[in-house]
Amino acid sequence: MYKIVVENSGTSFECGEEDTLLRAALRAGIAFPYECNVGQCGSCRFEVLEGEVRSLWAEAPALTPRDHRKGLKLGCQSRPVSDCRIKVRLDQSCLPLFQPLARDAELVSIRDVTHDMREFSFKTAEQARFAPGQYMLLHLPGVPGPRAYSMCSQPNEEGEWRFLIKRVPEGKGSEYLFDHIRPGQKITLDGPYGLAYFREDIDREIVCVAGGSGLAPLISIATAAAYHPAFKERRIRFFFGGRGPADICGDDYLRLLPGFGDRITFHSSISVPEMDPNNMWVGPVGFIHESVEGLLGDKLQDYEYYIAGPPPMLQATLQMLAIKHKVNVEHIHFDRFF
Ligand code: FES
Repeated sequence: MYKIVVENSGTSFECGEEDTLLRAALRAGIAFPYECNVGQCGSCRFEVLEGEVRSLWAEAPALTPRDHRKGLKLGCQSRPVSDCRIKVRLDQSCLPLFQPLARDAELVSIRDVTHDMREFSFKTAEQARFAPGQYMLLHLPGVPGPRAYSMCSQPNEEGEWRFLIKRVPEGKGSEYLFDHIRPGQKITLDGPYGLAYFREDIDREIVCVAGGSGLAPLISIATAAAYHPAFKERRIRFFFGGRGPADICGDDYLRLLPGFGDRITFHSSISVPEMDPNNMWVGPVGFIHESVEGLLGDKLQDYEYYIAGPPPMLQATLQMLAIKHKVNVEHIHFDRFF
């Protein structure tokens, strides 16, 4: 174990050679800033003042040439090779709700949801403790680096963790999960992580905006809200966008949302009509952020937003809400994975 002192914070933590600075800090209850945990967002940048770290991914896209010139590192991609003194601006909003832990998990079942999305259920000996909307890091045999996937399930004492995962062309993580893993096999789950979790104390109606496998955390959030006593009288608007009709999962899956069709209203749209050559799609055609804008109109400022999906969809939705319609960013929750 190495000792990591955080400059000007009066705090320090221990980090083993096999852990990253970010995750060791969070495990110790230190508010190290982060979002994605996998080298894509840049939130975990820090400076080494003394000591040495080893980078797991020197070309991580989150570090710009300017960051490299300034000697900045990523907490989620750095392992210590000595005691260190580091400089990082701690952010109390990143304080873990539940202590992140690495644990063994056994795959219990696999279920097809769309042509390229499957639900994977894992079981752990420990309780599944997390806030709806959070994600875990899956360490998969033969796949370099962990993969971040959100739970679509609820916290539970039985240790059940369900993930809704989309196959990514040439994605090594999803390839392993879709083509190799079988029920009974074990992997390591590490977490929970993530800041775009359900805020049960905010007295506003909820809008969920999902694209692709961004559906998973939003199903978890919408389900938690539907069950929550404080939300009994509130409606939840659930938007889901896909490229073609085959990307939109059927009602049988979405009926898992309690109250669907009554308190939860569901809106889906497709953005690539060429992917519907036989004109089977009867719903709206366009980007999902356009559906949100069109349906909520001048009430856009009234809601609490949870957004998850591919980077272009997330960017377009943020641009529409925060820039075009001046929705306060405090009311928009998302984790950046780009
Ligand atoms: Fe490290 Fe996103 S948390 S780059």
